[in-house]
Amino acid sequence: MIERVKVAVIGVGNNVSALVQGIALHRATGSLTGIRTPVLDGLGVADIDFVAAFAVSPSKIGKDLTEAIFLPPNNFPRLLSEVPLSGVTVRPGITDATEAARVAADLAGAEVVLYAAPSGRPQTARAYAEAALRAGAAFINTTSDAVARDPRWLDRYTRAGLPLLGDDLASQFGTSAVHHALLRLLEDRGLTLTSSYQVNLGGTEDFRNLVENSNTKLQSKLNALNAHETAAGRVHVAPLGYLPHLNSHKVAHINIEAQAWGETAVSLDVKLKVHDPSGAAGVNVDLIRMAASALRQGRAGYLAEAAPLLKSPPGTPV
Ligand SMILES: NC(=O)c1ccc[n+]([C@@H]2O[C@H](COP(=O)([O-])OP(=O)(O)OC[C@H]3O[C@@H](n4cnc5c(N)ncnc54)[C@H](O)[C@@H]3O)[C@@H](O)[C@H]2O)c1
Repeated sequence: MIERVKVAVIGVGNNVSALVQGIALHRATGSLTGIRTPVLDGLGVADIDFVAAFAVSPSKIGKDLTEAIFLPPNNFPRLLSEVPLSGVTVRPGITDATEAARVAADLAGAEVVLYAAPSGRPQTARAYAEAALRAGAAFINTTSDAVARDPRWLDRYTRAGLPLLGDDLASQFGTSAVHHALLRLLEDRGLTLTSSYQVNLGGTEDFRNLVENSNTKLQSKLNALNAHETAAGRVHVAPLGYLPHLNSHKVAHINIEAQAWGETAVSLDVKLKVHDPSGAAGVNVDLIRMAASALRQGRAGYLAEAAPLLKSPPGTPV
């Protein structure tokens, strides 16, 4: 029988809520809806176990992970009337880089550390990456802060024999994936791009943080699109908008202006509405199993198979 994956989560926000609840729903009903890879290297979705969780909010620390995911400001909806308790008590996270040693000790036994704290805190991201490295765990950076695309960290993980995946997850069916696919379709069909933009609006704590605090998200969103078109200045990402009444929905608008045969105009507008945390969970469930499988096989550093699930892999700008 295959050994289940032991995962530690950093940050008990909306994305972790969607992940914990989605796995519980799959276990309870067997539903495969929205699951990209039912079995990945022999590992099913139900083979993921949470063994540690870290938060900084006093209301979440000390609670069972299952209770903590429903506390505000989390606003991802409840997927099941009953979610079983996890048996994992949420522990205090890192508020000061010197706490990496304490957290490394708390990570003992975890194979994979899923870093899902707010974007725009590179020192915190690196303190957790240090803790995971000391604990001998693979690290997944779902934030737009530079860890995997910082050659020094990639080198340290590679030399330690540990996988390092990042940076910034690309949601399962989010603006980046849809925009990228449309731009590629345009190119494949021989049209010439004139201009394109995307607008993203959301009502989560993640959106509030990205709007109110400095971060590298806009560059990361550009990294996820066609490199030569963005380099030529034809693709633009509008500043994010925080609209609390959208709750966990994200609403995106994508516009493409192009020229077709005979220099005639083509115009395309797409509106996408998704639950943003679901888009993250649908990707995290695969990144976790990729990282665990690679760790068990002795594969270290960045994993090429993770590329479609990330916005800013190694080699992209910060
Ligand atoms: N579709 C998506 O939702 C998506 C896509 C790409 C990237 N991301 C990134 O994923 C990350 C998580 O997103 P989210 O929606 O769950 O955000 P969130 O704000 O709901 O959750 C983050 C949690 O981390 C906690 N936290 C803050 N500092 C911490 C620390 N030092 N230690 C431990 N916990 C800490 C916060 O209190 C919060 O509960 C964000 O960085 C976001 O930008 C999300």
